[in-house]
Amino acid sequence: MVLSANINPKSWICALAITLSVNALSVNSKSASPDDIDDSASNLIHALGPQGVNLLQLRNSQKSHNAKLFVQDGSSSYGFNLGDEVEDPFSEFLPHYFEQPLDHFAKTNHTFGQRYWVSTRHYTPGATGTPVFVLDGGETSGEHRLPFLDTGIVDILAAATGGVGVILEHRYYGDSIPVSNFSTDSLRWLNNDQAAADSANFMANVIFPGVDEDLTAPGKPWIYYGGSYAGARAAHMRVLYPDLVFGAIASSAVTHAALSNWEYMDVIRLAAEPKCAANLVGSIEYIDNILALSQQGKILKGLFGLASLEHDEDFVSLLTKPLVAWQGKNWDPAVGSPVFDVFCAALVKPPSHFASSPAVVDAPFGDESRMVEVEGLMLDYAVLNYANFIHEKLVPWLCPEGDVEGCFGTFDDAHWDPTSLDSIWRPWLFQTCTQWGYFTTAPPDQNQPRIISRLLDLAYAMRPCQQAFPPGKHFKIPTMPNITAVNALGGFEIAADRLAIIDGEVDSWRPYTPHSRYGADREDTLTRPFKIIPNGVHHYDAYGLRNSADEPEEIRKIHGEMIEFVVDWLKQWKV
Ligand SMILES: *[C@@H]1O[C@H](CO)[C@@H](O)[C@H](O)[C@H]1NC(C)=O
Ligand SMILES: *[C@@H]1O[C@H](CO)[C@@H](O)[C@H](O)[C@H]1NC(C)=O
Ligand SMILES: *[C@@H]1O[C@H](CO)[C@@H](O)[C@H](O)[C@H]1NC(C)=O
Repeated sequence: MVLSANINPKSWICALAITLSVNALSVNSKSASPDDIDDSASNLIHALGPQGVNLLQLRNSQKSHNAKLFVQDGSSSYGFNLGDEVEDPFSEFLPHYFEQPLDHFAKTNHTFGQRYWVSTRHYTPGATGTPVFVLDGGETSGEHRLPFLDTGIVDILAAATGGVGVILEHRYYGDSIPVSNFSTDSLRWLNNDQAAADSANFMANVIFPGVDEDLTAPGKPWIYYGGSYAGARAAHMRVLYPDLVFGAIASSAVTHAALSNWEYMDVIRLAAEPKCAANLVGSIEYIDNILALSQQGKILKGLFGLASLEHDEDFVSLLTKPLVAWQGKNWDPAVGSPVFDVFCAALVKPPSHFASSPAVVDAPFGDESRMVEVEGLMLDYAVLNYANFIHEKLVPWLCPEGDVEGCFGTFDDAHWDPTSLDSIWRPWLFQTCTQWGYFTTAPPDQNQPRIISRLLDLAYAMRPCQQAFPPGKHFKIPTMPNITAVNALGGFEIAADRLAIIDGEVDSWRPYTPHSRYGADREDTLTRPFKIIPNGVHHYDAYGLRNSADEPEEIRKIHGEMIEFVVDWLKQWKV
């Protein structure tokens, strides 16, 4: 069981005290928290910055508490690893460990075990061109990727080609930890070059247990799959190691690194249901204006249950929490988060005494007909709805003891000190602080409509870099992440034969992928596939169902196209 220790002892206690009603935000019992399973650590840190670290920890401690509850009531929980007592839905796949050097570029004898899982379900020994599909686990435990080996994209492609499927965990995540703590010095081997070299070494040398023939690259065609950060890695692998990586599929691949990812929230603003978006924009503008007036600001924070949260930046960053749930949407309701839609519905709904007159709902934000007076503040009812949602759902769920500064404050330096391996928020934060950026801020143009507060700027988002990673003896993080190396590999324009680019139409990460409006449009060909999934969010193609007939049409379509181009690639394979 992952008992993620907290950096903040107060929030630790607060989270452990949660009772059975913890799932206040979750409609679907299979998604035990608004953004479990996939990428969650990085989602939270990516999109919520400093506050994300708090939320990750509060949520993780609560998750381990949940695990006990699930065990007690005996319910099973497919796709959500609740703890060691729960039956493992992926017991067919055993973890194995591949020995990797800690440092691929300097001589040391230090090695670590990189965890991986193999599926030989569809493998026919002895075929000349047996493909191996390796999915890069990216910035989370590889266990979270096992559904992709079981019923998702790895299984789909392996089944179509008689191939072998592999999930390869990324160094410093899950159980592939090469160090004894996450201090600045200990994290210095966590970078793009080392991670790419791990994958290359693995492909060239792995001997799969129970497989008699040599399946290493370049003797067999290896196809490298990744989604999100790992999607960028997939594209990079095809460019950096073209002899080992026969083909690559880069899904929702953030190949363009950027200091600020303000367009992430802008995708959500533009794609959300229009009334919800308008209410959000109006609410945030109002909140910003009121916070500038200290007396009213305090009253306003009180309506959100956060009067004693000291810094306004921490306050407004917490308000972005329901928005990040956008990324947790999924076409498969068993894994998708309903929170964004639940929040939007709550925001837009007129208070009961308004008798839900459609005119009120349709009136513009701030219209006289929509105003309510609470504690001396005149508010559009949407602001009050926002406040109630945070006050009644989010705060008690994450911080039941009510010490909101202890739970949601980020300014205390001591908060960032712990370096133990339980502080699983540290590796990804380190990667953003050193090489990737993606700090969530308001739009730089003050006139641009926005759904997050203008107080959320780069200075606030980047404070934890210095707080969490003070200079070590051997390594000092840069003042600003050096995103040059990532972008030098191609950025929006990255391209190669047998490199597929797949994105979601309304993925909040799309502005950082080759499907960004800053990237040139491309022809979609079998050799260089370039595909958008209509209505898709984050690497929707990675997910699949045991019975593909149960998948929505656009998912069956993209899977069919992926099989088609992979089969075409394999025809080009020569020993
Ligand atoms: C690595 O191990 C070898 C053999 O045990 C030893 O001779 C060598 O000095 C070690 N190198 C380093 C850098 O520790
Ligand atoms: C982290 O681990 C290194 C190497 O084992 C050790 O030298 C260092 O003292 C540790 N630092 C902390 C803060 O625990
Ligand atoms: C950033 O990285 C690039 C490429 O790795 C390097 O050439 C450059 O010197 C670095 N810039 C800074 C300011 O360190």
